[in-house]
Amino acid sequence: MAQFSLPEPQPDPLLQLIAQYRADTRSDKIDLGVGVYRDKHGNTPVMEAVKTAESNLHGQQQSKSYLGLTGDLEFVETLGNLILPNSSATVLGAQTPGGSGALRLAAELYHTAHPNGTLWVGLPTWPNHLPLTESTGLKTATYAYFDQATQRVQFDSMLQAVQSAKAGDAILLHGCCHNPTGADLSLDQWLTLATTIANRNIIPIIDIAYHGLGKGLDQDLAATRLIVESCEQTLIAASCSKNFGMYRDRTGAVYMAAHDSKTAQRAQAMFGLIARKIYSMPPDHGAAVVRLVLQDSVLKNLWLDELSTMVQRVNSLRAEMANQSPHLNFVATQFGMFSLLPLTPAQVDALINTHSIYLAGDGRINVAGCQPEQISRFVDALNEVGYQGTEK
Ligand SMILES: Cc1ncc(COP(=O)(O)O)c(C=O)c1O
Repeated sequence: MAQFSLPEPQPDPLLQLIAQYRADTRSDKIDLGVGVYRDKHGNTPVMEAVKTAESNLHGQQQSKSYLGLTGDLEFVETLGNLILPNSSATVLGAQTPGGSGALRLAAELYHTAHPNGTLWVGLPTWPNHLPLTESTGLKTATYAYFDQATQRVQFDSMLQAVQSAKAGDAILLHGCCHNPTGADLSLDQWLTLATTIANRNIIPIIDIAYHGLGKGLDQDLAATRLIVESCEQTLIAASCSKNFGMYRDRTGAVYMAAHDSKTAQRAQAMFGLIARKIYSMPPDHGAAVVRLVLQDSVLKNLWLDELSTMVQRVNSLRAEMANQSPHLNFVATQFGMFSLLPLTPAQVDALINTHSIYLAGDGRINVAGCQPEQISRFVDALNEVGYQGTEK
Protein backbone atom coordinates (compact mmCIF):
# COMPACT_ATOMS: atom_id res chain seq x y z
CA MET A 1 0.00 0.00 0.00
CA ALA A 2 1.28 3.45 -0.90
CA GLN A 3 2.18 5.44 2.19
CA PHE A 4 2.23 9.15 2.74
CA SER A 5 5.70 10.12 3.83
CA LEU A 6 5.48 13.62 5.22
CA PRO A 7 8.28 15.48 6.98
CA GLU A 8 7.61 16.56 10.54
CA PRO A 9 5.90 20.00 10.18
CA GLN A 10 7.89 22.83 11.74
CA PRO A 11 5.58 24.74 14.08
CA ASP A 12 5.34 28.52 13.53
CA PRO A 13 7.21 30.13 16.46
CA LEU A 14 4.74 33.03 16.77
CA LEU A 15 1.74 30.68 16.86
CA GLN A 16 3.56 28.63 19.50
CA LEU A 17 4.16 31.78 21.52
CA ILE A 18 0.44 32.62 21.38
CA ALA A 19 -0.42 29.13 22.64
CA GLN A 20 2.17 29.41 25.43
CA TYR A 21 0.72 32.79 26.46
CA ARG A 22 -2.81 31.36 26.58
CA ALA A 23 -1.67 28.45 28.73
CA ASP A 24 0.18 30.73 31.21
CA THR A 25 -1.94 31.09 34.36
CA ARG A 26 0.02 33.99 35.90
CA SER A 27 -2.42 36.89 36.31
CA ASP A 28 0.13 39.63 35.55
CA LYS A 29 1.17 38.23 32.16
CA ILE A 30 1.76 40.74 29.34
CA ASP A 31 1.32 39.86 25.67
CA LEU A 32 3.74 41.78 23.45
CA GLY A 33 4.05 38.87 21.04
CA VAL A 34 0.89 38.76 18.98
CA GLY A 35 0.79 40.90 15.82
CA VAL A 36 -2.65 42.46 16.23
CA TYR A 37 -3.79 45.82 17.59
CA ARG A 38 -5.04 45.87 21.18
CA ASP A 39 -7.14 48.63 22.71
CA LYS A 40 -6.97 49.99 26.27
CA HIS A 41 -8.94 46.96 27.49
CA GLY A 42 -6.53 44.57 25.82
CA ASN A 43 -9.10 43.67 23.16
CA THR A 44 -8.93 43.62 19.37
CA PRO A 45 -12.38 45.09 18.79
CA VAL A 46 -14.53 45.20 15.67
CA MET A 47 -14.44 48.87 14.61
CA GLU A 48 -17.78 50.72 14.83
CA ALA A 49 -17.57 51.76 11.17
CA VAL A 50 -17.07 48.12 10.22
CA LYS A 51 -19.98 46.93 12.41
CA THR A 52 -22.33 49.48 10.87
CA ALA A 53 -21.25 48.60 7.33
CA GLU A 54 -21.73 44.91 8.13
CA SER A 55 -25.25 45.50 9.30
CA ASN A 56 -25.98 47.65 6.21
CA LEU A 57 -24.56 44.90 4.01
CA HIS A 58 -26.76 42.33 5.70
CA GLY A 59 -29.83 44.38 4.75
CA GLN A 60 -28.72 45.26 1.22
CA GLN A 61 -27.12 42.15 -0.19
CA GLN A 62 -29.35 40.47 -2.78
CA SER A 63 -27.08 37.71 -4.03
CA LYS A 64 -24.03 35.70 -3.18
CA SER A 65 -23.39 34.60 -6.74
CA TYR A 66 -19.77 34.59 -8.00
CA LEU A 67 -18.21 37.98 -8.67
CA GLY A 68 -15.26 36.87 -10.79
CA LEU A 69 -11.56 36.18 -10.50
CA THR A 70 -10.59 39.72 -9.54
CA GLY A 71 -13.33 39.93 -6.91
CA ASP A 72 -15.20 43.13 -6.09
CA LEU A 73 -13.78 45.63 -8.56
CA GLU A 74 -15.64 48.54 -7.00
CA PHE A 75 -13.82 47.74 -3.75
CA VAL A 76 -10.53 47.51 -5.66
CA GLU A 77 -11.09 50.90 -7.27
CA THR A 78 -12.27 52.58 -4.07
CA LEU A 79 -9.33 51.29 -2.04
CA GLY A 80 -7.00 52.19 -4.93
CA ASN A 81 -8.30 55.78 -4.80
CA LEU A 82 -7.65 55.93 -1.07
CA ILE A 83 -4.08 54.72 -1.49
CA LEU A 84 -3.22 56.62 -4.68
CA PRO A 85 -5.61 59.56 -5.15
CA ASN A 86 -4.91 61.66 -8.27
CA SER A 87 -2.09 59.40 -9.38
CA SER A 88 -0.63 60.05 -12.81
CA ALA A 89 -0.29 56.25 -13.20
CA THR A 90 -3.06 53.89 -14.27
CA VAL A 91 -3.85 51.91 -11.15
CA LEU A 92 -5.63 48.60 -11.71
CA GLY A 93 -5.76 45.53 -9.55
CA ALA A 94 -7.61 42.64 -8.01
CA GLN A 95 -9.18 41.84 -4.69
CA THR A 96 -7.15 39.27 -2.75
CA PRO A 97 -7.39 37.16 0.41
CA GLY A 98 -5.63 39.68 2.68
CA GLY A 99 -2.28 41.33 2.16
CA SER A 100 -0.69 37.87 2.06
CA GLY A 101 -2.76 36.93 -0.99
CA ALA A 102 -1.79 40.25 -2.57
CA LEU A 103 1.91 39.64 -1.94
CA ARG A 104 1.66 36.21 -3.47
CA LEU A 105 -0.10 37.51 -6.61
CA ALA A 106 2.40 40.37 -6.92
CA ALA A 107 5.30 37.92 -6.67
CA GLU A 108 3.65 35.54 -9.17
CA LEU A 109 3.06 38.35 -11.65
CA TYR A 110 6.61 39.63 -11.30
CA HIS A 111 7.98 36.09 -11.74
CA THR A 112 5.87 35.58 -14.88
CA ALA A 113 7.16 38.82 -16.42
CA HIS A 114 10.78 38.41 -15.24
CA PRO A 115 11.48 34.67 -14.90
CA ASN A 116 15.20 35.34 -14.36
CA GLY A 117 14.72 38.33 -12.11
CA THR A 118 15.72 38.48 -8.46
CA LEU A 119 13.59 39.93 -5.68
CA TRP A 120 15.67 41.90 -3.17
CA VAL A 121 14.48 41.74 0.41
CA GLY A 122 15.89 43.77 3.32
CA LEU A 123 16.42 41.91 6.59
CA PRO A 124 15.02 41.65 9.12
CA THR A 125 11.54 41.49 7.66
CA TRP A 126 8.12 40.04 8.38
CA PRO A 127 8.84 36.28 8.63
CA ASN A 128 6.27 35.45 5.94
CA HIS A 129 7.82 37.63 3.22
CA LEU A 130 10.40 35.12 2.02
CA PRO A 131 8.18 32.00 2.15
CA LEU A 132 5.32 33.81 0.37
CA THR A 133 7.48 35.13 -2.45
CA GLU A 134 9.93 32.24 -2.81
CA SER A 135 7.10 29.72 -3.13
CA THR A 136 6.46 31.19 -6.61
CA GLY A 137 9.86 29.88 -7.70
CA LEU A 138 11.24 33.40 -7.63
CA LYS A 139 14.92 33.93 -6.80
CA THR A 140 15.51 36.20 -3.82
CA ALA A 141 18.55 38.05 -2.49
CA THR A 142 18.81 39.80 0.84
CA TYR A 143 20.55 42.86 2.22
CA ALA A 144 20.85 44.35 5.70
CA TYR A 145 18.03 46.86 6.28
CA PHE A 146 18.44 47.48 9.98
CA ASP A 147 21.03 47.18 12.71
CA GLN A 148 19.32 45.94 15.86
CA ALA A 149 22.23 46.92 18.12
CA THR A 150 22.19 50.59 17.09
CA GLN A 151 18.53 50.71 15.99
CA ARG A 152 19.55 52.40 12.75
CA VAL A 153 18.27 51.77 9.24
CA GLN A 154 21.22 50.73 7.08
CA PHE A 155 20.33 52.98 4.20
CA ASP A 156 23.77 52.63 2.58
CA SER A 157 23.36 48.87 2.42
CA MET A 158 19.89 49.32 0.91
CA LEU A 159 21.22 51.68 -1.77
CA GLN A 160 24.12 49.35 -2.46
CA ALA A 161 21.66 46.49 -3.01
CA VAL A 162 19.76 48.61 -5.52
CA GLN A 163 23.01 49.59 -7.25
CA SER A 164 24.10 45.98 -7.53
CA ALA A 165 20.71 44.70 -8.76
CA LYS A 166 20.21 44.05 -12.49
CA ALA A 167 17.71 46.03 -14.51
CA GLY A 168 14.40 44.20 -14.19
CA ASP A 169 15.11 42.90 -10.68
CA ALA A 170 12.53 43.78 -8.02
CA ILE A 171 12.77 45.13 -4.50
CA LEU A 172 10.26 44.48 -1.73
CA LEU A 173 9.59 47.64 0.28
CA HIS A 174 7.58 48.20 3.45
CA GLY A 175 5.52 51.29 2.60
CA CYS A 176 5.39 52.38 6.26
CA CYS A 177 5.55 51.09 9.84
CA HIS A 178 8.25 48.54 9.06
CA ASN A 179 7.55 45.12 10.58
CA PRO A 180 9.40 44.08 12.75
CA THR A 181 11.59 47.15 13.38
CA GLY A 182 9.23 50.15 13.36
CA ALA A 183 12.08 51.99 11.62
CA ASP A 184 11.08 53.68 8.37
CA LEU A 185 13.11 55.72 5.91
CA SER A 186 12.96 59.51 6.15
CA LEU A 187 11.23 61.31 3.29
CA ASP A 188 14.65 62.40 1.97
CA GLN A 189 15.80 58.79 1.96
CA TRP A 190 12.62 57.74 0.15
CA LEU A 191 13.32 60.43 -2.46
CA THR A 192 16.86 59.15 -3.00
CA LEU A 193 15.64 55.55 -3.10
CA ALA A 194 12.84 56.34 -5.56
CA THR A 195 15.25 58.06 -7.96
CA THR A 196 17.80 55.27 -7.69
CA ILE A 197 15.22 52.53 -8.23
CA ALA A 198 13.77 54.38 -11.23
CA ASN A 199 17.20 55.06 -12.78
CA ARG A 200 18.27 51.44 -12.39
CA ASN A 201 15.00 50.07 -13.79
CA ILE A 202 14.21 48.11 -10.67
CA ILE A 203 10.60 47.18 -10.01
CA PRO A 204 9.29 48.15 -6.58
CA ILE A 205 6.86 45.81 -4.85
CA ILE A 206 5.41 47.78 -1.95
CA ASP A 207 3.79 46.01 0.96
CA ILE A 208 1.37 48.30 2.79
CA ALA A 209 -0.19 46.65 5.81
CA TYR A 210 -0.11 49.34 8.51
CA HIS A 211 -1.07 52.61 6.80
CA GLY A 212 -2.88 54.84 9.25
CA LEU A 213 -1.11 53.29 12.23
CA GLY A 214 2.15 55.27 12.05
CA LYS A 215 1.84 59.02 11.48
CA GLY A 216 -1.66 59.12 9.98
CA LEU A 217 -3.09 57.80 6.73
CA ASP A 218 -1.76 60.35 4.23
CA GLN A 219 1.70 60.60 5.77
CA ASP A 220 1.94 56.82 5.95
CA LEU A 221 1.08 56.57 2.26
CA ALA A 222 3.44 59.35 1.15
CA ALA A 223 6.32 56.98 0.32
CA THR A 224 4.08 54.69 -1.75
CA ARG A 225 2.74 57.68 -3.68
CA LEU A 226 6.24 59.00 -4.27
CA ILE A 227 7.52 55.67 -5.59
CA VAL A 228 4.53 55.28 -7.91
CA GLU A 229 5.11 58.74 -9.39
CA SER A 230 8.85 58.05 -9.85
CA CYS A 231 8.82 54.54 -11.29
CA GLU A 232 7.37 53.24 -14.56
CA GLN A 233 5.69 50.29 -12.87
CA THR A 234 5.00 49.60 -9.22
CA LEU A 235 3.31 46.59 -7.69
CA ILE A 236 1.42 47.21 -4.46
CA ALA A 237 0.13 44.63 -1.97
CA ALA A 238 -2.42 46.26 0.32
CA SER A 239 -3.91 44.73 3.45
CA CYS A 240 -7.06 45.88 5.27
CA SER A 241 -6.40 43.48 8.14
CA LYS A 242 -4.84 45.98 10.54
CA ASN A 243 -6.29 49.38 9.72
CA PHE A 244 -9.84 48.04 9.45
CA GLY A 245 -9.28 45.44 12.20
CA MET A 246 -10.57 42.77 9.80
CA TYR A 247 -7.84 40.19 10.30
CA ARG A 248 -9.94 37.06 9.87
CA ASP A 249 -12.03 38.39 6.98
CA ARG A 250 -9.01 38.20 4.65
CA THR A 251 -9.38 41.54 2.93
CA GLY A 252 -6.78 43.03 0.63
CA ALA A 253 -5.93 44.00 -2.92
CA VAL A 254 -3.01 43.85 -5.31
CA TYR A 255 -2.33 46.68 -7.77
CA MET A 256 -0.20 47.42 -10.75
CA ALA A 257 0.41 51.18 -10.94
CA ALA A 258 1.87 51.72 -14.39
CA HIS A 259 2.55 54.79 -16.45
CA ASP A 260 1.43 52.93 -19.55
CA SER A 261 -2.17 51.86 -19.26
CA LYS A 262 -1.77 48.70 -21.36
CA THR A 263 0.60 47.24 -18.75
CA ALA A 264 -1.88 48.00 -15.97
CA GLN A 265 -4.74 46.40 -17.94
CA ARG A 266 -2.73 43.28 -18.73
CA ALA A 267 -1.57 42.99 -15.14
CA GLN A 268 -5.15 43.16 -13.88
CA ALA A 269 -6.24 40.36 -16.20
CA MET A 270 -3.15 38.32 -15.22
CA PHE A 271 -3.90 38.73 -11.51
CA GLY A 272 -7.23 37.02 -12.16
CA LEU A 273 -5.65 34.21 -14.16
CA ILE A 274 -3.03 33.62 -11.47
CA ALA A 275 -5.70 33.60 -8.75
CA ARG A 276 -7.64 31.03 -10.81
CA LYS A 277 -4.74 28.61 -10.36
CA ILE A 278 -4.46 29.15 -6.61
CA TYR A 279 -7.82 29.90 -4.95
CA SER A 280 -9.97 31.01 -7.90
CA MET A 281 -11.84 33.89 -6.24
CA PRO A 282 -11.34 35.89 -3.07
CA PRO A 283 -13.88 35.86 -0.21
CA ASP A 284 -16.39 38.69 -0.58
CA HIS A 285 -17.50 39.80 2.86
CA GLY A 286 -14.54 41.90 4.04
CA ALA A 287 -14.12 43.67 0.73
CA ALA A 288 -17.83 44.52 0.56
CA VAL A 289 -17.64 45.96 4.07
CA VAL A 290 -14.55 48.07 3.35
CA ARG A 291 -16.20 49.34 0.15
CA LEU A 292 -19.31 50.38 2.10
CA VAL A 293 -17.17 52.17 4.69
CA LEU A 294 -15.10 54.04 2.11
CA GLN A 295 -18.06 54.99 -0.11
CA ASP A 296 -20.12 56.52 2.69
CA SER A 297 -18.70 59.81 3.96
CA VAL A 298 -20.20 59.36 7.45
CA LEU A 299 -18.79 55.85 7.83
CA LYS A 300 -15.48 56.87 6.32
CA ASN A 301 -15.09 59.71 8.81
CA LEU A 302 -16.04 57.39 11.65
CA TRP A 303 -13.39 54.91 10.46
CA LEU A 304 -10.78 57.69 10.19
CA ASP A 305 -11.61 58.81 13.74
CA GLU A 306 -11.30 55.27 15.05
CA LEU A 307 -8.01 54.85 13.19
CA SER A 308 -6.67 58.05 14.68
CA THR A 309 -7.61 56.84 18.19
CA MET A 310 -5.62 53.69 17.48
CA VAL A 311 -2.55 55.56 16.26
CA GLN A 312 -2.69 57.97 19.20
CA ARG A 313 -2.74 55.05 21.60
CA VAL A 314 0.24 53.38 19.93
CA ASN A 315 2.24 56.59 19.83
CA SER A 316 1.47 57.53 23.42
CA LEU A 317 2.58 54.05 24.56
CA ARG A 318 5.79 54.58 22.60
CA ALA A 319 6.34 57.96 24.25
CA GLU A 320 5.66 56.53 27.72
CA MET A 321 8.09 53.62 27.23
CA ALA A 322 10.81 56.10 26.25
CA ASN A 323 9.84 58.30 29.17
CA GLN A 324 10.23 55.47 31.66
CA SER A 325 13.52 54.10 30.36
CA PRO A 326 16.42 55.84 28.60
CA HIS A 327 17.17 52.41 27.10
CA LEU A 328 13.87 52.63 25.22
CA ASN A 329 14.40 56.13 23.79
CA PHE A 330 14.45 54.83 20.24
CA VAL A 331 10.97 53.32 20.65
CA ALA A 332 9.51 56.84 20.56
CA THR A 333 11.23 57.56 17.25
CA GLN A 334 9.72 54.51 15.54
CA PHE A 335 6.28 53.94 14.02
CA GLY A 336 3.56 51.34 13.78
CA MET A 337 2.92 48.53 16.19
CA PHE A 338 6.38 47.00 16.36
CA SER A 339 9.89 47.63 17.64
CA LEU A 340 12.76 45.18 17.65
CA LEU A 341 14.58 45.42 20.95
CA PRO A 342 18.28 44.48 21.08
CA LEU A 343 17.74 41.47 23.36
CA THR A 344 19.58 38.18 23.39
CA PRO A 345 17.56 34.93 23.08
CA ALA A 346 18.40 34.21 26.74
CA GLN A 347 16.99 37.59 27.78
CA VAL A 348 13.80 36.93 25.77
CA ASP A 349 13.48 33.52 27.48
CA ALA A 350 13.89 35.11 30.89
CA LEU A 351 11.26 37.75 30.12
CA ILE A 352 8.80 35.01 29.15
CA ASN A 353 9.60 32.40 31.76
CA THR A 354 10.51 34.51 34.78
CA HIS A 355 8.45 37.64 34.16
CA SER A 356 5.51 36.32 32.07
CA ILE A 357 6.18 39.01 29.45
CA TYR A 358 5.68 37.45 26.04
CA LEU A 359 7.53 38.67 22.96
CA ALA A 360 8.92 37.16 19.78
CA GLY A 361 12.25 35.32 19.98
CA ASP A 362 14.03 37.97 17.90
CA GLY A 363 13.12 40.71 20.42
CA ARG A 364 10.10 42.09 18.52
CA ILE A 365 7.49 43.71 20.73
CA ASN A 366 3.97 44.75 19.79
CA VAL A 367 3.75 48.11 21.52
CA ALA A 368 -0.07 48.02 21.33
CA GLY A 369 -0.07 44.84 23.46
CA CYS A 370 1.04 46.87 26.50
CA GLN A 371 -1.19 48.84 28.84
CA PRO A 372 0.15 52.14 30.25
CA GLU A 373 0.07 50.73 33.79
CA GLN A 374 2.16 47.71 32.69
CA ILE A 375 5.05 49.78 31.33
CA SER A 376 6.88 50.13 34.65
CA ARG A 377 6.77 46.35 35.19
CA PHE A 378 8.05 45.86 31.64
CA VAL A 379 10.92 48.32 32.22
CA ASP A 380 11.84 46.67 35.56
CA ALA A 381 11.83 43.24 33.94
CA LEU A 382 14.06 44.51 31.12
CA ASN A 383 16.51 45.84 33.72
CA GLU A 384 16.42 42.56 35.63
CA VAL A 385 17.28 40.48 32.57
CA GLY A 386 20.25 42.78 31.88
CA TYR A 387 18.84 44.66 28.88
CA GLN A 388 21.14 47.55 28.03
CA GLY A 389 19.42 49.29 25.12
CA THR A 390 21.36 50.43 22.10
CA GLU A 391 25.08 50.65 21.40
CA LYS A 392 26.18 54.24 20.99
C1 LIG B 1 4.40 43.46 6.87
C2 LIG B 1 3.16 42.68 6.64
N1 LIG B 1 2.72 42.53 5.41
C3 LIG B 1 1.60 41.84 5.13
C4 LIG B 1 0.87 41.26 6.14
C5 LIG B 1 -0.33 40.46 5.71
O1 LIG B 1 -1.46 40.61 6.40
P1 LIG B 1 -2.79 39.85 6.04
O2 LIG B 1 -2.48 38.76 5.07
O3 LIG B 1 -3.31 39.33 7.32
O4 LIG B 1 -3.68 40.90 5.42
C6 LIG B 1 1.29 41.38 7.46
C7 LIG B 1 0.56 40.74 8.56
O5 LIG B 1 1.02 40.58 9.66
C8 LIG B 1 2.46 42.13 7.72
O6 LIG B 1 2.92 42.29 8.95
